[in-house]
Amino acid sequence: MPVPLPADSRSLYRHGMTPDINHDESARINVLASLNAAVAATLSSGVKLAYEQEALPKLTAEDLDLSNPKAQTGATVREAIRPSPVYQSWASLRRMIQEMNRQTARHIALRQMGDLQERADVLNGDANDDALTLDPSLNVPRYLANADNHLQPGGYHTEIEPGDMTAAATYDVATFVTAMGMFGPKGDSGGRGMAKWLAERHPTFKPKRILDIGAAHGNNTLPLAAAFPEAEVVALDAGAPMLRYGQARARSMGFSNVRFVQGAAEEIDDSLGTFDLIQTTMVFHETSGTALPEILKRIYAALNPGGLTTNLEQPNFTPDTPVFDRFLRNWDAWYNNEPFWVQLHGMDFQAALHTAGFHPDKCIESGVNPDLEPDQYPSWAGRISRHDHEHSKPEPAKQGYNGESWYLFGAWK
Ligand SMILES: C[S@@+](CC[C@H](N)C(=O)[O-])C[C@H]1O[C@@H](n2cnc3c(N)ncnc32)[C@H](O)[C@@H]1O
Repeated sequence: MPVPLPADSRSLYRHGMTPDINHDESARINVLASLNAAVAATLSSGVKLAYEQEALPKLTAEDLDLSNPKAQTGATVREAIRPSPVYQSWASLRRMIQEMNRQTARHIALRQMGDLQERADVLNGDANDDALTLDPSLNVPRYLANADNHLQPGGYHTEIEPGDMTAAATYDVATFVTAMGMFGPKGDSGGRGMAKWLAERHPTFKPKRILDIGAAHGNNTLPLAAAFPEAEVVALDAGAPMLRYGQARARSMGFSNVRFVQGAAEEIDDSLGTFDLIQTTMVFHETSGTALPEILKRIYAALNPGGLTTNLEQPNFTPDTPVFDRFLRNWDAWYNNEPFWVQLHGMDFQAALHTAGFHPDKCIESGVNPDLEPDQYPSWAGRISRHDHEHSKPEPAKQGYNGESWYLFGAWK
């Protein structure tokens, strides 16, 4: 079975804050990324077979009936497939790859904690006072503070010492393996895709103020800042380490139109002002059933009339999403510390937008293709082989997730 290979991690773009990664660490990262891709490409089909041949015969009509809450989440399949050796191999490899990946990235970041701070001090030396606004009194939302999302030790907010930014360096290094290289050389293929989508679909829309909520270290914020160089861009996140690192990273890449602000999305108020474009990328799936509707309300309140909110997320389940697919897509909730995925997949985003105040006629649902910066990234990245003659034709983009196409939900105000 051909395996789509990620690029060599050493071909990734290095910005001014990129941690130093030695030979052995690069080798480990490359093995993990390729193994992740191989598991996805080969063992996944075995899991489908295990479902059909081992789990399905054990499932009752009620276990498969989508009006049954356990079937709705795929939990009935999870229980029936658990004894299968193929499933166990697939699941334990996925878990092990993620654990080793996050621990490797954490180790890389921790051993240069002081050096990162010194680099940031130099890069931020002559920045304006409002380029970075931290709020030490912020209560990091419980769903972030308690989860270590996707097995990242300490999550996005942990500070080992004042000024610590290792959480951001960890996230920056680790996303390559998790995304199997499909986030591109700068980890910004979502933001680049979003900027292209706006240019193609709404070429006259020129936002003057942009808010990126849950911006982390600004990886997907900067493509918007580049697309609208006249705009003032605010990158909001709950994690101080992400913002410190993000500001220095942005400056090292020549950006001066982005402010990094610490805050919780469900507490956004007038102090940030109003915006023409409010973006989120991969944020809502890490929130909660209480926070999500509140954040949408705050987005509505913070948008100027004629403004737009665009949110890149995993698509929700449709009424006919098969039970097996539900199980597969909720797997991360159970085994990869993504506790809100189950509820998110069952949500109706359009209804949530209406409840937040958006007019039903102004709501949108679309797909955004990731933009991998083809001029700078090896042409074979994400393809079947590193050898030209073995390349398969890339699949046409389809609306889905997992790097093929981002699901977008949003609305005009
Ligand atoms: C999966 S990361 C995505 C980061 C970035 N948008 C990207 O595209 O890579 C989710 C980010 O959202 C932030 N976040 C989640 N919930 C938040 C909230 N309620 N308020 C502020 N930031 C939040 C987290 O701290 C984290 O940095």
